[in-house]
Amino acid sequence: LENGLARTPPMGWLSWERFRCNTDCEGDPDNCISENLFRTMADLVVSEGYAALGYEYINVDDCWLEKSRGPRGELVADRKRFPRGMRSLSDYVHSKGLKFGIYEDYGNYTCAGYPGIIGYGRSDAQQFADWNVDYVKLDGCYSLPLDMDHGYPEFGRQLNRTGRQMVYSCSWPVYQIYAGINPNYSSIIEHCNLWRNYDDIQDSWASLETIIDYYGNNQDVIVPNAGPGHWNDPDMVTSHSIVQHFRCLMFFLRQLIIGNFGLSYEQSKTQFALWAIMAAPLLMSVDLRTIRPEFKAILQNQKIIAVDQDPLGIQGRRIYKHKGIEIWSRPITPIYQTYYSYAVAFVNRRTDGTPSDVAVTLRELGLQSPTGYRVEDLYEDVNYGVLSPNTKIKVKVNPSGVVILSAHVQPERITRTTYNPLNY
Ligand code: DGJ
Repeated sequence: LENGLARTPPMGWLSWERFRCNTDCEGDPDNCISENLFRTMADLVVSEGYAALGYEYINVDDCWLEKSRGPRGELVADRKRFPRGMRSLSDYVHSKGLKFGIYEDYGNYTCAGYPGIIGYGRSDAQQFADWNVDYVKLDGCYSLPLDMDHGYPEFGRQLNRTGRQMVYSCSWPVYQIYAGINPNYSSIIEHCNLWRNYDDIQDSWASLETIIDYYGNNQDVIVPNAGPGHWNDPDMVTSHSIVQHFRCLMFFLRQLIIGNFGLSYEQSKTQFALWAIMAAPLLMSVDLRTIRPEFKAILQNQKIIAVDQDPLGIQGRRIYKHKGIEIWSRPITPIYQTYYSYAVAFVNRRTDGTPSDVAVTLRELGLQSPTGYRVEDLYEDVNYGVLSPNTKIKVKVNPSGVVILSAHVQPERITRTTYNPLNY
């Protein structure tokens, strides 16, 4: 959508994956969907240094509404959980220098059963504008996927008519794909700033793997649709929280028994690296009060954020997949003559439990500039120096882990003919 917004993939915080539809503010006041939760997360996004790195949206997901509309058909935030209302929350988020996002559903109800948009598109768009909303996620439960080709653009026009600039996040393709319909991506690009293509992410490696496979296996259809103003959304960056309360600890132990509590450190690094390669929105769904420092460091890795936010906005691809080893690569700036720079991620999905060596020449990765590339590891402090296309690089990739490199093409002046420190 060419509305001047989302020139790079949006970054911020979104409640869903971590906090879901927890409405129990009496029993679980610290974790329920409430204005306090969003205020706290907004505070932490700033005080813990996320905002300075580009995370700017504080986005509300499902379960913020009262179960029915107000007397004039207006949207009403849950009175107990959002006693000061949405305009006040929006003002608070803005007072922190951040932007405010909200959620609604294109159908009769949201997925969790709260009021949907049908029949109220125009007035809801106006209400969002009046609340100074900056970002709207429009989900697609309780609706007819075929109607979306008409309905999603229509709500986009309603948003536009308000005169307020709002990022428009659509779930249009994912619901159509579920229903066996091929999404009309040229229309989706025209009307949405980002869109979900595939299933919700869950806090598990198995879920993450299905998403990685979906984007890899369907890349010829998906990748060309991404660019400044219009992005594929493989969903949130998932939870990396430590447990604090005894009740949660019991949950943790139970989950450990079935081997499925969240992502390991290696797996989290893999998600973040691949999201950057895929030019994905970086919407953290994490408890920022309790996140472990090593996971925070992943989310705050400036070099990988820079890959994600590269101004060319070209989504990367899986360029190699064999026996559990995958290589993903994304063209990035700078460009020299016809040669791009690249970010390259090596992923080890083998199940044998030992690190795997991967050796490949830059040329085999498609990096052919005779001027060479400055190659650097983006997680580890390893600098390979300037390498020619024929140089073989060897990386060791941990099980379910990643090695991500950047290879910046060198301008001619530092090759041997012109860069000649010894003067011969
Ligand atoms: C389905 C969406 O895909 C999720 O991201 C989340 O918004 C839930 N609905 C909320 O009910």
